[in-house]
Amino acid sequence: MIQPLENKNILLIVSGGIAAYKSLELIRLIKKGGGQVRCILTQGGSQFVTPLSLATLSENPVYTDLFSLKDETEMGHIRLSREADLIVVAPASADIIAKMAHGMAGDLATATLLASDKPIIAAPAMNPQMWEHEATQSNIRTLTERGITLAGPGCGDTACGETGMGRMSEPEEIFSTIIAHFHEQPLKGLKALVTAGPTFEPIDPVRFIGNRSSGKQGYAIATALYEAGAEVTLISGPTALQNPVGVRVVRVETAEEMLNACISALPVQIALCAAAVSDWAPQEAKTAKIKKRRNQTPPAIALKENPDILARLAKDGPNRPDIVVGFAAETENVLENAREKLARKNCDFIVANEISPAEKVFGADENRVHLISAHESEEWPRAGKKIIARKLVRRIAQMLNDFDNAAKVEAAE
Ligand code: CTP
Repeated sequence: MIQPLENKNILLIVSGGIAAYKSLELIRLIKKGGGQVRCILTQGGSQFVTPLSLATLSENPVYTDLFSLKDETEMGHIRLSREADLIVVAPASADIIAKMAHGMAGDLATATLLASDKPIIAAPAMNPQMWEHEATQSNIRTLTERGITLAGPGCGDTACGETGMGRMSEPEEIFSTIIAHFHEQPLKGLKALVTAGPTFEPIDPVRFIGNRSSGKQGYAIATALYEAGAEVTLISGPTALQNPVGVRVVRVETAEEMLNACISALPVQIALCAAAVSDWAPQEAKTAKIKKRRNQTPPAIALKENPDILARLAKDGPNRPDIVVGFAAETENVLENAREKLARKNCDFIVANEISPAEKVFGADENRVHLISAHESEEWPRAGKKIIARKLVRRIAQMLNDFDNAAKVEAAE
């Protein structure tokens, strides 16, 4: 599956603050996103979380001591910083912020930060008075002028019982700041909805009509949209895939449930329907298992047509997304059939898959597609579903930009 932090090494510095417990969840998210984490735990931090928790979650040793022979021979503080692509300080206490601003280097965390030229994200966490204090504000100005990115703090109740600025951002928000560091985000501020996987239409409590869709392409698209900054809802039929990190996932079974979940997710600016929705469902799902009896002719299953989710989303109206993209699996006359589908379902683009038996697509990691609009068609070379997902998202960003520019020109005329 596409992982937004593939091949990224993150050095996480956990300093002293009750919010240190949230860093455990941050480690889990980074790992799930495909990244590697090494942790430095300050003396203060170790009052709130243990090295064992950090080591277990990060699957790496945890470093605590500047003057420890073991830590320095195993992984010196210089190497710790050199091998990282990014340093994240979470929680960043008032104390470590002050030390960073003044270039102090009395412990492993601050010595590593001073010896580093790597980008830094800091997630401040402290009492609101400490945050508002001119000393902290001046230190924060120094750090941001030096190029450090801040994740938070947020406003709300703090552990000390006071309310105000100083609460550490939630792990998901810090994780999104990390993603934004590594990926361009042309879709920031936009909402997207993706359908993926098959649908299962029940015949009785144990049997269903389904199909072979793995959901891989839709899941890859959901992650690529998230990387590009969109707020993504993935509405998925039954698949064996894990929920992609950073994406809100709604699991459904039938086409009817998928349609309802899509409607609940509106309004969105971008909708991509990659699901292989069953065209038909049994007219009636039996509540008891249909029994096979001797000498009985096999039962006939009367079918009804399922709602067309793509056509429903793309229908003109106030809630129509700015861009609606459909998928088409075609065995012959790919372009002709895809164009007909584009017009019939009123969508803006069709990604047409060639599924001749020679083109193994179902369940595979690669795909060969054509991108078709009313006026143009592009043939993309066979590529991994991850690459196709990212390319598709780049094209969507470009199209939205073109729409914006056209609207501006129209307004100026
Ligand atoms: N789709 C949908 N709801 C349906 C059927 C299809 O949202 N009930 C969407 C799919 O997610 C896909 C596109 O429509 O984006 C094309 O699906 P496909 O099954 O290929 O198209 P059909 O209209 O069923 O045409 P045909 O079976 O004749 O190829």
